Amino acid sequence: MSEFLGKTALITGAASGIGLATAQLMAAAGASVVMADLDQEAGERAAAAIADGGGRAVFHRLDVRDAQACSALVDSVLARFGRLDAAFNNAGISGATSLTEDQGLELWQRVLDINLTGVFNCMAPQLRAMRAAGRGAIVNTASIAGTGGAAGAAAYSASKHGVIGLTRTAAVEYARYGIRVNAVCPGYIETPMTVGASSIFTGSHLERAVSATPIRRFGQPREIAEMVLWLCSDRASFVTGGQHIVDGGASASC
Ligand SMILES: NC(=O)c1ccc[n+]([C@@H]2O[C@H](COP(=O)([O-])OP(=O)(O)OC[C@H]3O[C@@H](n4cnc5c(N)ncnc54)[C@H](O)[C@@H]3O)[C@@H](O)[C@H]2O)c1
Repeated sequence: MSEFLGKTALITGAASGIGLATAQLMAAAGASVVMADLDQEAGERAAAAIADGGGRAVFHRLDVRDAQACSALVDSVLARFGRLDAAFNNAGISGATSLTEDQGLELWQRVLDINLTGVFNCMAPQLRAMRAAGRGAIVNTASIAGTGGAAGAAAYSASKHGVIGLTRTAAVEYARYGIRVNAVCPGYIETPMTVGASSIFTGSHLERAVSATPIRRFGQPREIAEMVLWLCSDRASFVTGGQHIVDGGASASC
């Protein structure tokens, strides 16, 4: 597959899980992939593995809370590759599970800073660069928790609802400049966030999540990556401002 040959893609949260799977798929489709993440060691290892397999991938350490660094990264992508065709703003954290009254301001701020302000910090310079070029596609990672209430996850759910609002607004503003902006809304996906050692979810929570999913299993990161690649491709040329749910049917059941 060489659909993205000659194109450049920027992916945040690319050292792990959904972002990593998307970087792998993008590189396999021919793109030059800029992988950004807070986790330098895992990110460098992942980019080297893609390059060893014949793909084009470089790693940049990035904290999406740092607006200046997000802007500088877009500048360095343009300086190095001369173009930015696709961006996947995906870095995120889950926060903690508790009643809303117990979430606390510190947790609220941390989750909003990374999951929502982080997407804004990345998207603003990307939109500026893409507007100058007259083309581009952006995908932001929301969640099914951005389309409905998520008991125990007030900060997370609010942040992901915010991502959808930001996505819709940018889609409406930038369609006239040839830029499409979409959100992907994963259900439960098997990544370190859900099943890793530092996951906030208990075994029984995860069992309930799977039994509430008609397909009766976790999604795999690659299954989200497939949607992201399609949304970034010219095959999705009339698709913008959408919330694309990939959840094994979880949000379809009542
Ligand atoms: N796994 C799921 O079930 C699920 C469901 C819905 C949405 N999501 C969303 O998908 C995205 C990816 O999650 P994942 O499941 O792949 O998790 P993950 O923990 O495997 O990956 C998240 C990555 O984001 C990076 N990151 C965290 N804070 C950062 C920061 N400040 N700056 C830069 N990078 C940072 C981490 O280092 C990590 O590599 C997140 O936005 C998450 O909210 C996940």
